Amino acid sequence: MEVKERIDWLRSELHRHNHNYYILNAPEISDQEFDFMMRELQDLEQAHPEYSDANSPTMRVGSDLNKEFQQVVHRYPMLSLANTYSEAEVADFYDRVKKGLEGEDFEICCEMKYDGTSISLTYEDGRLVRAVTRGDGVQGDDVTSNVKTIRCIPLQLPEGDYPGQFEIRGEILMPWNVFEKLNQEREANEEPLFANPRNAASGTLKLQNSKEVARRKLDSYLYYLLGEELPCDGHYENLEKARGWGFKISEGMKKCKTLQEVLDFIKYWDTERKNLPVATDGIVLKVNSITQQRHLGYTAKSPRWAIAYKFQAERALTKLEKVTYQVGRTGVITPVANLSPVQLAGTVVKRASIHNADVIEGLDLHIGDMVYVEKGGEIIPKITGVETSARNAETGEKVQFITVCPECGTSLVRFEGEAAHYCPNDVACPPQIKGKIEHFISRKAMNIDSLGPETVALFYNAGFIHDFTGLYDIFYRQGEIMTIDDYYDKNPWEFMSIPGFKSKSVLKAMQSVRDSLQVPYPRVLYALGIRFVGETTAKLLAKAFPSIDLLAAASLQDLLEVDGIGQVIAESIIRYFADERNLQIIEKLKANGLQFALSEEVLSDRSDKLAGKSVVISGVFSKHSRDEYKALIEKHGGKNVGSISAKTSFILAGENMGPAKLEKAKKLGVSIVNEEEFLSMIE
Ligand code: IVH
Repeated sequence: MEVKERIDWLRSELHRHNHNYYILNAPEISDQEFDFMMRELQDLEQAHPEYSDANSPTMRVGSDLNKEFQQVVHRYPMLSLANTYSEAEVADFYDRVKKGLEGEDFEICCEMKYDGTSISLTYEDGRLVRAVTRGDGVQGDDVTSNVKTIRCIPLQLPEGDYPGQFEIRGEILMPWNVFEKLNQEREANEEPLFANPRNAASGTLKLQNSKEVARRKLDSYLYYLLGEELPCDGHYENLEKARGWGFKISEGMKKCKTLQEVLDFIKYWDTERKNLPVATDGIVLKVNSITQQRHLGYTAKSPRWAIAYKFQAERALTKLEKVTYQVGRTGVITPVANLSPVQLAGTVVKRASIHNADVIEGLDLHIGDMVYVEKGGEIIPKITGVETSARNAETGEKVQFITVCPECGTSLVRFEGEAAHYCPNDVACPPQIKGKIEHFISRKAMNIDSLGPETVALFYNAGFIHDFTGLYDIFYRQGEIMTIDDYYDKNPWEFMSIPGFKSKSVLKAMQSVRDSLQVPYPRVLYALGIRFVGETTAKLLAKAFPSIDLLAAASLQDLLEVDGIGQVIAESIIRYFADERNLQIIEKLKANGLQFALSEEVLSDRSDKLAGKSVVISGVFSKHSRDEYKALIEKHGGKNVGSISAKTSFILAGENMGPAKLEKAKKLGVSIVNEEEFLSMIE
């Protein structure tokens, strides 16, 4: 068989098996056979870039390529739905529709209201060409490469009676079990948790790295077909058609002829939804006939032909015993409601978060108040209201937010425009120091993973270390290989007092502390825990100031000149280096041999040859892969952008550059550079 034929065959088979597995739940082949076919296709595509295809099943695995999202205007605006909360309001809707249709018969299609993030998919000739988020309803982000990793979304439809062009809209969801696992992982890595699957789904969809998106296993249901030539006049019938084309459409969908049937549907799903693998927060009711939908039309914000009924979040009434305050690792103070234990959605609730001082004020909380707690999709319950009618002579005082840190006694501060109170004592407030040490050893920072947060806390509480530099006093001896005996000599104060921390753990800790000397400068910079300097900012800073001395000497103006560094970050950096105690920490780490400058290696193949240039990559290449070209552009100070505009400096073009792009480049007068020319530019 010709290579091209084999590739085509593998692609269509993989699309088919994917559909069998993710939509029909009826696989014909084993996972292993599937993987083999996928691997063969990957190999063939790598060897024959001339046959590349943006919708190949291999695109499902995502790429590490960073991509800024393009804004795309929706062909049909993405409207929202009016909400209702009671049977009476549903009945009102039903009557309004009846009136609007002047006595005509009508049907209501009832569907689950999925609680995720909405997406609009465009198909042309059966190929997924674009996936765009809702955005502001008028325009959204083009997240096609991320959406392609979602297995139940077809990239290429098999032959069928679908229109040449159509849009299909639906919800991207993170199933409960995936959500719980992701949060467990994040907890272990000391990353902030997602409050609910909806935030997790939308956060994931906006990730820059589609490989990570693929790993997170998103799901999706589609619920709205749009286009100029739809197959049927019924919404329900169109969705059934779409199911036949290969889309994942909810099973819980029903056409109702009477209000009673609608109410029965709502009642049934209010309990049944708890058995679904994904979050739902209501029922959507839609007039089924599209002709009738058109007749009813739209208000400024939402259709008159549809409405959402929102399920009542489960809530309980209980007594507020007292408010305590937690100090986070960044110094943020979180008020916590301590409640009389109460049963809520299957668990006993004793505590609830109250977020910040404004919320306390807004609720007008008093000690002893009877308060409503809700769980609505969140893991941590929250207080949503106060039963003021239950107040009596025994109700206590109004809750006053504390003014000093409960851990170290420092006066709290509140930055302009921020809701949170902070403890500013970041060098001596215990939870903040512990937090800094935990951050320092975390995987993405120094990766001293054999010491977990609990062990670090024990070391700190026992007074063995006072900040993260202490780890090098204990576990590292410069210039010599440290043995376990050295370790006990050096640290005579008996480690037996740290339960479970025996020779094996000591050896592991010594090893990872020693390995941390190889951690490159940008990660060391991140590990220092300078406020507002996350991983990405640390990389930007290291690029602009290739050593810590240069960074320390930078003025506010110098910092602001770096693309991506704004006032808040710049000021925080200035503040950090102005503090003598921080300089001492850096000196101590330097003395131990940590990397405080970009290595020669990294420095030598960088240049400014493409500084200020925006480059579009298009077509198929033979000397390097696309990803490699992207890396080369960045290494030489340029920026890789997704689409051609008047600001594009040039197009790096391989074989088979699309005719539309060529035309646009010509029109805008953007020059086209081939592989050879590009490589000699950066030589
Ligand atoms: S139809 C014009 N159907 O709810 C009608 N929306 O407030 C467009 N949603 O943004 C929406 N499940 O994200 C529709 N079965 C369903 C839905 C649904 C969830 C979401 C969607 C939309 C929001 C409306």
